[in-house]
Amino acid sequence: MPLMPIAQPLAQLPFSQACENNKAPILAVLTQAFSLNQHVLEIGSGTGQHAVYFAANLPHLIWQTSDQAEYIEVISARCTQEGKLSDVAANLALPIILDVTAPWPVGGLTPEIDAVFSANTLHIMSKNMVEAFFSGLGLYLPQLNTLCIYGPFNYQGEFSSDSNRQFDGFLKQRDPASGIRDIEWICQLASEQKLTLQHDIAMPANNRLLQFVRDSL
Ligand SMILES: C[S@@+](CC[C@H](N)C(=O)[O-])C[C@H]1O[C@@H](n2cnc3c(N)ncnc32)[C@H](O)[C@@H]1O
Repeated sequence: MPLMPIAQPLAQLPFSQACENNKAPILAVLTQAFSLNQHVLEIGSGTGQHAVYFAANLPHLIWQTSDQAEYIEVISARCTQEGKLSDVAANLALPIILDVTAPWPVGGLTPEIDAVFSANTLHIMSKNMVEAFFSGLGLYLPQLNTLCIYGPFNYQGEFSSDSNRQFDGFLKQRDPASGIRDIEWICQLASEQKLTLQHDIAMPANNRLLQFVRDSL
């Protein structure tokens, strides 16, 4: 169930400068990747900045935000306040609680989701959570046909840059279960859900955008 937004002024909501920096390059990819989709579920919406921007710029989509319970009020507030300002309220759906390790929300929404987007989540999650992320996607099969994941990844256990190596060290100091994931493992988990990597796109700041598509039936 979407929760009521809090009355926190927009300027005081948590804000990510990284989101502002990466939203335009990500949109350029999503414009193509989601061109034939109708209903996107975002997992780990965070501050809600991506959701507001992508919903405004991809008006053919319904953009469904979600996150763990403690993020819901902030996402609701941003969607409500910024969504109104930019007139995207019509296709921006207030967040639902979705913790990938808990039972996923089922019901009205489930049959309609045909795409999933998630940014900067898999290196924050533990390995068990990443596995739960992919097994949860099974709920949306067979209609789920596109999955886009943004973030840093390793290739065959190797960091792709010194900055990513440092970032991984920072993450592990904070939470030893977190860390940059190997793309090969992510592709394996995706393939178990009948999703195959179609594009692995270089993005600014040593990030990647992975576009998976559903295997043909
Ligand atoms: C670094 S933030 C990224 C937020 C936003 N997507 C962005 O790009 O700025 C990581 C996000 O992963 C979410 N996350 C972590 N563990 C999760 C879980 N078990 N289930 C769902 N989301 C989770 C957090 O709640 C948070 O929103």
